[in-house]
Amino acid sequence: MAASFAELWSELLPFGRDELTGGYRRYSWTQADAACRDWFARTATGLGLRTDCDRNGNLWAWWDDGASGRAVATGSHLDSVPDGGAFDGPLGIVSAFAAIARLRASGFRPARPIGVAAFTEEEGGRFGVACLGSRLLTGTIDPAVARDRFDSGGVSLADAMRAAGRDPELLGADEDLLADLDCYVELHIEQGSALDGLGAAVGVGEGIWPHGRWRFDFAGRADHAGTTRLADRRDPMLPFAAAVRAARIAAAASGALATFGKVVAEPGAANAISSAVHAWLDARAPDEAGLDGMVEEIAAAAAAAAVEHGVGLELRQESFTPLVSFDPSLRDRLVGVLAAAGMQAPVLPTGAGHDAGVLAARLPTAMLFVRNPSGVSHSPAEHAEPADCEAGVTALAAVLADLAGQ
Ligand code: GLV
Ligand code: MN
Ligand code: MN
Repeated sequence: MAASFAELWSELLPFGRDELTGGYRRYSWTQADAACRDWFARTATGLGLRTDCDRNGNLWAWWDDGASGRAVATGSHLDSVPDGGAFDGPLGIVSAFAAIARLRASGFRPARPIGVAAFTEEEGGRFGVACLGSRLLTGTIDPAVARDRFDSGGVSLADAMRAAGRDPELLGADEDLLADLDCYVELHIEQGSALDGLGAAVGVGEGIWPHGRWRFDFAGRADHAGTTRLADRRDPMLPFAAAVRAARIAAAASGALATFGKVVAEPGAANAISSAVHAWLDARAPDEAGLDGMVEEIAAAAAAAAVEHGVGLELRQESFTPLVSFDPSLRDRLVGVLAAAGMQAPVLPTGAGHDAGVLAARLPTAMLFVRNPSGVSHSPAEHAEPADCEAGVTALAAVLADLAGQ
């Protein structure tokens, strides 16, 4: 069967790609997601791996014949942001399968099981909670809350899972699975251009900035755009605009990042004042105190502008990941393994969220980053050169051989 990185990559590439934008729309529990899941199962089976879907819908492929003890897990996610790039997520899974194929071909036999995971809805692109599958696995989101999340079409996670043939009542912390895992190493495209600047194909993760998402619901009053006097308006777009401006100012002042990347105006008529504006703030900072302070500042600016314009405001946190420091001894071990394989891998922090960050609360985790020459991500322009993807496979194979070897 196809087992080189290039072959596996090209097989996965068509699923969920939008012809017009060239971006990916791989949202959890959709047809595109099902096609990616079928590819995962087919590929794993072809490589002689045992496949499994855990109670939270995360896929697993196990190389465990003749192995014993707790597993070395690797993997990433197959879902995308709206019009995302091809690499964010799938690179880690394709590289894992390619690394396993290479290890098998070299005669390597793991002493402890190796597991490849594809975590469900890492991006929160459909139900709004980032790292949904790993949060459910580790018990960091209440399964009842998760079941009751709705997509933009009003479909609940529970109904979407049922339609995909999964039982949402099974959702919840999976202590048995966690107890079987020794560590998790996620390979991911770098979502910045630090490696390019350093002239390195592969890097090792140091940690992840604390980050989260907040939903702002501004409630105004719909009215005619051509007849309503300015003084009579209750226009929710104005406090929303104040919040966007406050986010930019607060982030610049504190060396942090704040983004309103999604906004829905209701009813969405060009010639009417909106009845409501729903907006999502993504905020990230080097430390939690700085993050809290920035979000408070943005919330205060939004609230003051809402009062000024006679608009209601409800604000709630939709997800949060505290500061993550990857396990220092695992990280140092990776750096050593790569150095022995002739790769000088710089250690880098990141502002991007990952399932490895969620799992870090329960087991030693580490990350490998693959060079992204432009640094662009969450966009169809995201790119890694084939030679760097191969270097990533070489790095991951060396790490898996070290961690799962005798
Ligand atoms: C995931 O890519 C995130 O950082 O939002
Ligand atoms: Mn992403
Ligand atoms: Mn990702």
